[in-house]
Amino acid sequence: MLTAEKERGNWGSKIGFIVAAAGSAIGLGNIWRFPYVAGENGGAAFVFIYIIFVILIGLPVMISELSIGRHTQKNPVGAFGKIAPKSFWKIVGGLGVLTGIGILSFYGVIAGFTVGYFIKILLGDLSHITTGDQANEVFNQFTANPYLSIGLLFIFLFFTSAIVMGGVSAGIERWSKILMPVLFVLLIVLAVRSVTLNGAMKGLEFYLKPDLSKISIPMLARALGQALFSLSLGMGTIITYGSYLSRRENLVTSAGAVVFFDTLIAILAGLVMFPALFAMGMDPAGGAGLVFVVLPSIFAKMPGGMFFGAGIFLLLSVAALTSTISLLEVPVAYFVDERKWDRKKATLLMGISAFILGIPSAISLGAVKSFSVLPFLDFGFLDFMNALFGNYSLTIGSFLIAVFAGYKWGIKNVLNEIEQDGVTFLYKNIWSFLIRYICPVAIVLILGYIIITRNYF
Ligand code: PFF
Repeated sequence: MLTAEKERGNWGSKIGFIVAAAGSAIGLGNIWRFPYVAGENGGAAFVFIYIIFVILIGLPVMISELSIGRHTQKNPVGAFGKIAPKSFWKIVGGLGVLTGIGILSFYGVIAGFTVGYFIKILLGDLSHITTGDQANEVFNQFTANPYLSIGLLFIFLFFTSAIVMGGVSAGIERWSKILMPVLFVLLIVLAVRSVTLNGAMKGLEFYLKPDLSKISIPMLARALGQALFSLSLGMGTIITYGSYLSRRENLVTSAGAVVFFDTLIAILAGLVMFPALFAMGMDPAGGAGLVFVVLPSIFAKMPGGMFFGAGIFLLLSVAALTSTISLLEVPVAYFVDERKWDRKKATLLMGISAFILGIPSAISLGAVKSFSVLPFLDFGFLDFMNALFGNYSLTIGSFLIAVFAGYKWGIKNVLNEIEQDGVTFLYKNIWSFLIRYICPVAIVLILGYIIITRNYF
């Protein structure tokens, strides 16, 4: 056991693991995706449901993924194969590998945009903005250039691949530990500015005062998808990261810490976005461009705004990078461990695949007007990939992981993995109930309804 740990390498410390897993979880999902999805789905009611799903479904699934990863010390495919040899469960891991590339392809596009905005601020391209309309205009022009979007996607995936090639641990850990707290502080500064703008109250109300009549099943599906996406669950990322976690650490408190910080950052991002958005009379359901329009409008209203602007887009790029690293690590770990590929070759091939798959997403937000997947589907390719991989694939993956932990591998084995070296899991009965009943049943009901009503997007 110890030799296996030594050979594979481990996180430097418990804090190292939490920082790295939080680095995977905290990213564009919190700051780009959470606010715009909340805005499209009724604001506070969505936030309320989101938090419930994080606690009742996200946390139990995270504990399961960590246990599977640490027990098997393997990538998702190898992990399922080890616990349940010669069974179809390996497919769950395979789905994760595929989903990693799928998410990386469109995530890289938005991450590229954040780099682009950082550069634009340095060049002074945003300094003339004083109104929301102007910010909108700048974003539309920015996305209208296909070479720029594709080039930025390339740059981002290049950096991601370069880091993943070097192997997990040291680099990721060191970077995240310093930069995530800085991101947190910057968000607080922006939130204070946003909340004190004239007319901010309406935004706070929209964001924090739930109107429960806005709850609908499609909204539940989106809140669940968002919770899983934000926590990096359902595709084996946390299995892979858990495989580098030492047996001496307490899985449950580690999972709790990651979930807490991830949710805190998402809520804080909403606190930056909604007051400002309402203060400037913008539409909360503005879609995927929201963060790129609202943030520059806030910078315009603060002394030294461009300084904060450069800081936030730079840190957003770094937060995205610690997430794209984890997305790429899943397929790479699979090809290295299971197919005995060289790490360099695996990273290169997976990076190139994500790049090629990302090109239609890169041009779908403006360069090619309403570039749709199928002629009768009236929305863009990035939105399609986002829903397919970022919501459904993770939801189905989480369902299968819950069933695997709760029934196939079984509660007893999971608890044995958790309760080693004197660790006691205080809430094991609650966890068992959630993973066996609440997680699978809630997901089946929600997905069942979505399929029956064909309300996919
Ligand atoms: N959790 C990341 C975010 O919120 O930005 C995105 C992500 C990373 C999703 C890794 C899934 C994953 F496996």
